[in-house]
Amino acid sequence: MPTDAPFPPIPFTPPKAVFKDMSKNAPAATAHVPLPSSAAAAANAIVMDPEVNSAAIDDKAPSGSAEKPVLPTFSLDGRTVVITGGAGGLGLVMAKGLVLSGAGVALVDLNDTEAASQISVLEAAFKDAHPTLSSVPRVTAHKVDVSSEESVAACIGAVVSVHGKIDGLVTSAGFTETIQSIDYPIDRMRKLWAVNVDGTYIFAQQIARHLVKEKRGGSMVFIGSMSGSIVNVPQPQAPYNASKAAVRHLCASMAVEWAPHQIRVNTISPGYMLTALTEKILEANPDLRDAWVGGTPQGRMGAPEDLMGPVTFLLSDASRFVTGADLRVDGGYTVM
Ligand SMILES: NC(=O)c1ccc[n+]([C@@H]2O[C@H](COP(=O)([O-])OP(=O)(O)OC[C@H]3O[C@@H](n4cnc5c(N)ncnc54)[C@H](O)[C@@H]3O)[C@@H](O)[C@H]2O)c1
Repeated sequence: MPTDAPFPPIPFTPPKAVFKDMSKNAPAATAHVPLPSSAAAAANAIVMDPEVNSAAIDDKAPSGSAEKPVLPTFSLDGRTVVITGGAGGLGLVMAKGLVLSGAGVALVDLNDTEAASQISVLEAAFKDAHPTLSSVPRVTAHKVDVSSEESVAACIGAVVSVHGKIDGLVTSAGFTETIQSIDYPIDRMRKLWAVNVDGTYIFAQQIARHLVKEKRGGSMVFIGSMSGSIVNVPQPQAPYNASKAAVRHLCASMAVEWAPHQIRVNTISPGYMLTALTEKILEANPDLRDAWVGGTPQGRMGAPEDLMGPVTFLLSDASRFVTGADLRVDGGYTVM
């Protein structure tokens, strides 16, 4: 074939989503698909084909059982994972993904009553997904304030005394507030950082000490946010954004320091996910939903279940050469 031969034309199939982005740089090419009337009214919305817009997760898809083969290194069978903020929201759903993948899980949260009430729910989910397996992963609940060193030390001691060891950590405890920087009181910012940044630092440090003492490697996943890399608009949340940028760089720095100890550290940066945290913001500002969805190429907010696979991957041996990475799970929001 001559080297100056023209490239063959690349067939173009228009995507099913209609982009009309207002707050960020709109993509150059727009797929012209007729808008349904409700979406036309909400001029910034993306319209997805309902058949491809489902966030449903098949809980019955077994991890490593005979029915559907999966790569064995994705299994967390026999591992113990601590998950902060595990009583609700993203933390609880990620915990479910870990249990379904075979991990024993310690749900640690300020709200230990709610965490305790989820133990039987997670165990039942495992039995439902894996009816042929007789051994059910152990799930426990523990009270902790992640911003307190004493509380974290007591919590880790309690987890080790019940589970015998810790192999992994997921830090999901965190919160946000939407206040203009010009009015944001420093005391409130310190409280936010105490949970989002100090809480991540203290937990990671104390679990790393445990792993180094036991001469065992491990894997940590910090829950950051796309807000650590971009500035969300229009809601003002500078201290939150900065806290998540700090989490991302703590991760990278700890990944380098702890690599010789076979401890991996990665972040997951979710986009707009539907949880109590975002519901609260949307209740006060209903118009935000269109802005959030309009800026997301996949045309929807994330379901908490969308984090099950990424967190399982990062905790498992399937990602054994991945450390210091930031995995964005945002439906494409940050690439536009
Ligand atoms: N929901 C989203 O759209 C979204 C997007 C990006 C990142 N995130 C991040 O994901 C994480 C979880 O968010 P969520 O939406 O599930 O929130 P959520 O409010 O539903 O859950 C947070 C959990 O953390 C616990 N918690 C709060 N302070 C604590 C403390 N000091 N010690 C121990 N536990 C504490 C709460 O009791 C709660 O169970 C947060 O770090 C958040 O910043 C969320």
